[in-house]
Amino acid sequence: MKPYSELTREELLALRDELRSHYQTLKGLGLNLNMSRGKPCKEQLALSMGMLDVLKGDSILESEDGTDCRNYGGLTGIPEAKRLMGDMMEAPSDQVLLYGNSSLNLMYDTVSRAYTHGVLGGTPWCKLDQVRFLCVVPGYDRHFAITEHFGIENVPVPMGPEGPDMDLVERLVSEDASVKGIWCVPKYSNPSGNSYSDETVRRLAALKPAAKDFRIYWDNAYTIHHLYDETQQDTILEILSECEKAGNPDLVYKFGSTSKICFPGSGISALATSKHNLKDMEKQMKSQTIGHDKINQLRHVRFFGDIQGIRRHMQKHADILRPKFEAVNEILERELGGLGIGSWTKPRGGYFVSFDTLEGCAKAVVSRCAEAGVVMTQAGATWPGGRDPRDSNIRIAPSFPSLSDLKTATELFALCVKYVSAEKLLEQR
Ligand SMILES: Cc1ncc(COP(=O)(O)O)c(C=O)c1O
Repeated sequence: MKPYSELTREELLALRDELRSHYQTLKGLGLNLNMSRGKPCKEQLALSMGMLDVLKGDSILESEDGTDCRNYGGLTGIPEAKRLMGDMMEAPSDQVLLYGNSSLNLMYDTVSRAYTHGVLGGTPWCKLDQVRFLCVVPGYDRHFAITEHFGIENVPVPMGPEGPDMDLVERLVSEDASVKGIWCVPKYSNPSGNSYSDETVRRLAALKPAAKDFRIYWDNAYTIHHLYDETQQDTILEILSECEKAGNPDLVYKFGSTSKICFPGSGISALATSKHNLKDMEKQMKSQTIGHDKINQLRHVRFFGDIQGIRRHMQKHADILRPKFEAVNEILERELGGLGIGSWTKPRGGYFVSFDTLEGCAKAVVSRCAEAGVVMTQAGATWPGGRDPRDSNIRIAPSFPSLSDLKTATELFALCVKYVSAEKLLEQR
């Protein structure tokens, strides 16, 4: 099949009619499928059931420093769990702070503290006329929602195959003191699946911010979420040490969690940053909590053992997820390859595929899918405020449905892309 842009009006009309009739047939099947949120499927969750058996009524619930994990205390977490999370996050354990069950909550609290109390003695953001955050787009809607919630202006910065547009980031960060942060998902990014190049990491670490309290919010949520073996994995430079080398030791907050390693919502989250930043944060945390869930921290350590245990566990996740990502790519390639009406990423890890339609088609594609029983992430969700100026980006989340449901859903999605694109091109003829 020729690219759609080379079809005559008559050819396009005939094609549109054929696609419409195919769409009506599929719509009649009454599908009820969901490719919207990046949730692990049941088989993935089953991999961690043993975690529920590692602690029993007669288990010794003491951490290695003698802390009784059943009792109050341990504001920053037990040492063996800090080591486990530090190894995963490539940070020394004395630069790690363990938090509760969700890294998003930790990110929210980090922004909230800066807003009400300031960063390292700086002016609380609530007292400033203007606070801006850079949002790498397409990006993660829940990041954007946090800053939006505090009335912070989200400023989009385009993401490419090597990371954010660094010329733009450098200019905005160095010239504008109201820019206080940048949201980054540096590895197997949500949604593109791309990872930052070494040059991008070095340039971020060497930023010269106009605002002293500017920080990089480095959400490395997919740090060990590979789909393939070591020969085909993305690696990124470790940013804490790059910041130190660049003379910017306090510039970054690294976030991570075990949400998509064991049980989302019941994992442990962590922050790795400079000791200076940690001290500032701990001072404020003391007014917030006596400590987080140490029994859960212990459970993680007893179940995984060490970082090698987490790596082995992640290979099992990969074996479940890889066929799903490959099926999505094969179907998109077979149905849309060479038609010039869509492009998509082929990530080697993470949870998402990013799809770009012709300009002005994403909303219509998502709504056609919904009418036919396939729920996609809302079009626009990958942009601050849900406003994608080109109305073209759609996030595909292949993890949750079964392989056969996923294939059906992707076929329907591809059909909707073709149908909506044909209609769009006809409008322009
Ligand atoms: C980039 C990113 N960060 C954080 C989260 C949520 O993490 P948590 O469950 O630790 O709050 C997600 C979940 O989809 C994510 O994609």
